[in-house]
Amino acid sequence: MKLSYYGLFFLYLSNTTVYADQQSLQVICSAKPKTCQWLQDSFIEKYNIPTNIVRMSSGEALSIIEQNSANPDVIYDVWWGGTGDTHLKAIGNGFMHKFSPKNNNLLGWSTYLSDLSDGHTVGIYAGMLGIIANEKVLAAQNIDLPSCWSDLGDPKYRGQIIIANPATSGTAYTFLSTIFQIYDPFQRLQILAEIKENILKTTTSGYAALLPVANGEAALSVAFIHDALSLANKDSPLTIIIPCEGTGYEIGAASILKNTQHLKQAQQFIEYTLLAETQNKLTREISLQIFSNVDAVMSPVYKNQDNLNVINYNFRIYSSERMRKKILDTWDELSN
Ligand code: G6P
Repeated sequence: MKLSYYGLFFLYLSNTTVYADQQSLQVICSAKPKTCQWLQDSFIEKYNIPTNIVRMSSGEALSIIEQNSANPDVIYDVWWGGTGDTHLKAIGNGFMHKFSPKNNNLLGWSTYLSDLSDGHTVGIYAGMLGIIANEKVLAAQNIDLPSCWSDLGDPKYRGQIIIANPATSGTAYTFLSTIFQIYDPFQRLQILAEIKENILKTTTSGYAALLPVANGEAALSVAFIHDALSLANKDSPLTIIIPCEGTGYEIGAASILKNTQHLKQAQQFIEYTLLAETQNKLTREISLQIFSNVDAVMSPVYKNQDNLNVINYNFRIYSSERMRKKILDTWDELSN
């Protein structure tokens, strides 16, 4: 079955809640829609296991899992992709099944996430955050490019920023936790308040925030740089800026839900996505993250980035219940 982006969006709207009588493997996928669709089609083709994939942003998936943890009638089996902090939070609340992949050909950051979760999740891909700019839009108004996170609060960018909502999007949550880890409490409040003033609109997912920027509706977004490069073309040139203060990154995770009724197939699904063959197909056709298999080809987006200037991101603290609440409350309380 092939679905367009809008088709998949419809599938998501009509199919968010899944009930226990379903025979198929039920997968929540928090990567971009095309990746989710490709995984569904290729897994069914290879193993002939009925599989239904529903796309949700990381924070949306976390809320659905939390809300339905006590409801045995609502069943998902696997949560694939999306930022690792949301998986770690669900694990901290006891909602996920223990899972140690048989595949031991994985890079250190992938197994680091497994260790951090006491064997409840695994790192599938990694990606860096950046400021994404449509230079044509800026040039038309004679505005220069930002270089630092703090520049995004400059009044010259009023109405020029489209980002996702951090409560629903792992991309936007990674952005806020990056600012929290770089700046002291006073500075971060000031910078975030100024940035919020410049926002034109918010979207549910980080990837969706990039689409209007690529189309020239606004000049700036904050997103994972692999998403920006997979969208950029000669009509929609997007410039990637690694901010001067350094940037945050994600480890995209895959986990099995505690209430799964298809444990074997759920394990098989995740193992399938850890194979170098699967990851290489994703890199060549659709997804430009860094994948976790030692033998996976390096994403062209990250291949030549020797000096990545990433911060020492603290996944343990920034996935905790307390910190997530603090960050989301801080953002909510700032006026726009
Ligand atoms: C895109 C990126 C992924 C990331 C995901 C987070 O799909 O390619 O690397 O994990 O966004 O999505 P969210 O909707 O939670 O911002």
